[in-house]
Amino acid sequence: MIDPTLAPAPAHPAATAADATAGTPPAGVAYPKTIKSFVRRAGRTTTGQAKAFEDLGPRFVLPYKAAPLDADAAFGRSAPLVLEIGFGMGEATAHIARVRPNDNFLCCEVHEPGVGALLKRIGEQGLTNIRILQHDAVEVIDHMLAPACLDGIHIFFPDPWHKKKHNKRRLIQAPLVAKLAARLKPGGYLHCATDWQPYAEQMLQVLGAEPLLANTAQGFAPQPEYRPLTKFENRGLRLGHGVWDVVFVRRH
Ligand SMILES: C[S@@+](CC[C@H](N)C(=O)[O-])C[C@H]1O[C@@H](n2cnc3c(N)ncnc32)[C@H](O)[C@@H]1O
Repeated sequence: MIDPTLAPAPAHPAATAADATAGTPPAGVAYPKTIKSFVRRAGRTTTGQAKAFEDLGPRFVLPYKAAPLDADAAFGRSAPLVLEIGFGMGEATAHIARVRPNDNFLCCEVHEPGVGALLKRIGEQGLTNIRILQHDAVEVIDHMLAPACLDGIHIFFPDPWHKKKHNKRRLIQAPLVAKLAARLKPGGYLHCATDWQPYAEQMLQVLGAEPLLANTAQGFAPQPEYRPLTKFENRGLRLGHGVWDVVFVRRH
């Protein structure tokens, strides 16, 4: 049975109720030792999303395999590669893929309705430069991404895990950031955004302490023009909440 307090506080529409099955291993399987940055949430896949899965899944959803990814083969072209971790319902992802047609976007999300929603946007907007991995991004990084294979990384509004006892679930921590930095090409960038100030400060501190990374700004960065204001963010801004962008690059 899941510990209900493990659900991230519902600050974000894509971060609400925990799935009753989260954290429950199948019979006979040992409880996973690693601390996950997500809980598997309940959520209905709509008819439109299910149809998008059926029609577009075979082309745009890649199978998870514990083997290095051939990105050129997966996208059918050679282009700069950007990894996104946790795209939620894919609103920003689709926008960025549209305004940056010359880049390839490899996008990880574990929430099935979110994957369906992004597939639907891909179909509606005729996007060709996105591939989806419906899998824990940490395992994708560990097993599918070679050193220095990425031109950029996007982590927008990662689950803030507000409670102190859950802070250990946050994605942006030194060990993962070291892995991310190692997978960036020299000059490649890591762009994080959050609306939770303590997490924004943690991002600055952790990225600032990673020897391979250099800040592109004095502290927080201006919002890069490719990152759109999503519906969620606009609502927060109307309520007077802040948003912080953090953009570092890998040193040469
Ligand atoms: C708070 S939501 C933000 C979604 C989106 N980036 C946005 O700005 O609307 C964070 C998302 O990250 C996903 N997530 C968290 N950890 C993940 C991981 N290790 N691998 C893949 N997705 C993850 C969650 O399922 C959730 O949908």
